[in-house]
Amino acid sequence: MKPVVAIDGPAAAGKGTLARRLAHALGLPYLDTGLLYRAVGRRVLDHGGNPADPAIAEAAARSLQPLDLERPDLRGPAADAAASSVAAIPGVRAALLTFQRDFAAASGAVLDGRDIGTVIFPDAPAKLFVTASLTERARRRWMELRAKGIETSIETVEGDMRQRDAKDAARLAAPLRAASDAFELDTTTMDADAAFNAALAFVRGRIENA
Ligand code: DC
Repeated sequence: MKPVVAIDGPAAAGKGTLARRLAHALGLPYLDTGLLYRAVGRRVLDHGGNPADPAIAEAAARSLQPLDLERPDLRGPAADAAASSVAAIPGVRAALLTFQRDFAAASGAVLDGRDIGTVIFPDAPAKLFVTASLTERARRRWMELRAKGIETSIETVEGDMRQRDAKDAARLAAPLRAASDAFELDTTTMDADAAFNAALAFVRGRIENA
């Protein structure tokens, strides 16, 4: 099997930074799968639709184009909420499954998301589950938003994040959970370099033994 590194965990736990650095160090392509759900949510909003409507959301997922992932409006509160709604719809998840598997087919990949190690690549040789406390994740997301000029309070970010985490974990379709063979990395008190070094050592060990 081509090397697939599956990275799952809640929002703003440090998955994206870690996944990008791992991909670079290992010479593998990288896919942020959250962008798929964000782009589907955006397509639904573009047409004035309700992201919680299964038929509309599934049609948007089936017509998703790679260029949709490069839209500049995939971040921010509206896209967050729309992504969280479409991600709970089984037909949307099924429509995006092939895209994710195909992405890694040629040369392997590092993918981050919520169900990469449990549903998309259950046989991936290296799986990481990256977490951090809610307070720390909200602080990180608030700093990112502020850097982009989006004014909001930490309390609002934390409240929204708590709600979306609960929705991601409670949904019936591919709920957020660690695969039984995932290496759990709590980054609450780690900086990006420490998280990267720990993850790289684990992933190298797994890939070499696969
Ligand atoms: O990681 P993110 O914040 O960009 O994810 C956006 C939304 O999509 C979030 O509600 C979780 C959901 N998601 C998912 O259900 N499965 C994935 N593989 C990736 C993201």
